Amino acid sequence: MTNLVRFIALHSYKGGTGKTILSLNLTEAFRKRGRNVCLFDFDFRAPSQHVWFDTTGAEYWLNDFLDGKCSIMQALINVQDNPTGSYGKLMVGLANPSTEAIRDINLKDRRWEMRALGRLLSVRNFLQDNGFDLLIIDASPGLLYSSINAVVSSDVALVAATPETSDLQGTIRMIHELYDLFSKKTALIFNRLIGVEILKIPGMKKDKSDGLLFNGLRVLAVVPCFCDVQRAGRGYVMVRERPNHPFTRIVEEMAASIDPQSRPAEKTQDAKLMQLYRDIFVKKTMGIHISDEER
Ligand SMILES: Nc1ncnc2c1ncn2[C@@H]1O[C@H](COP(=O)(O)OP(=O)(O)OP(=O)(O)O)[C@@H](O)[C@H]1O
Ligand SMILES: [Mg+2]
Repeated sequence: MTNLVRFIALHSYKGGTGKTILSLNLTEAFRKRGRNVCLFDFDFRAPSQHVWFDTTGAEYWLNDFLDGKCSIMQALINVQDNPTGSYGKLMVGLANPSTEAIRDINLKDRRWEMRALGRLLSVRNFLQDNGFDLLIIDASPGLLYSSINAVVSSDVALVAATPETSDLQGTIRMIHELYDLFSKKTALIFNRLIGVEILKIPGMKKDKSDGLLFNGLRVLAVVPCFCDVQRAGRGYVMVRERPNHPFTRIVEEMAASIDPQSRPAEKTQDAKLMQLYRDIFVKKTMGIHISDEER
């Protein structure tokens, strides 16, 4: 039986909410469960995952793949870290951290972004053919085109938020404007909590089975601020290095709850339809008239 590949996007309204740390740790948690995982640094404006992996010998970056300069295979690094047990495979696609590449990506127009979306969607077939189960996409914060591409291509979108008022307000707005439009399977992760009573956050309540809902949206996890997480550096992923740490347990619970094997993957999404949705979203946010046909 062929495997079904699921795309999971880690997104947020504001920066610094924990997307990168959560992506890396969720990747390890899924590998621990035997899943073959591909991880993308999709934060082309502020790449960060290159510091976690050995990029020696890497000729191409994810930027080159999206630009049509190389195949996805050439843009991926096969991470051979020889973990024990029945860990799944890991391949990473990294964003080019050079100043030139960051400048270059800032100059890309809408047409380029549309082609980039098509390329991103095409990765599903490659992963499927190569026995991968999951693609985890660490997106840029906010509503950049690349983030929207990550969200629209995903089967599950995880939004990391902190309890800070401006983040909460922005997150609610973003979810209603962007996520509702795409009818995404979305869940929130409240991260870096210090001394906050979760139920006192406005808009938060318990559902019937004692889970949390924030403005009607499922809360997948509530993660306290841990000094150990802050200290973790290159190659030091909590789920691997600190198996009994509470942070690890929370991440592993998250992975169990979105375990792909228990859910069938959605149909491959159509790039043109996604582009249309995205244009409507951009028009909506900019107050531009939406035609009856688009409606
Ligand atoms: N639960 C946590 N406890 C303590 N520190 C955390 C926790 N989660 C994340 N951090 C720390 O917060 C900082 C920001 O995390 P991270 O880089 O993962 O956020 P990000 O959302 O990817 O940021 P950006 O939007 O800039 O890409 C890092 O120093 C990270 O170690
Ligand atoms: Mg990041």
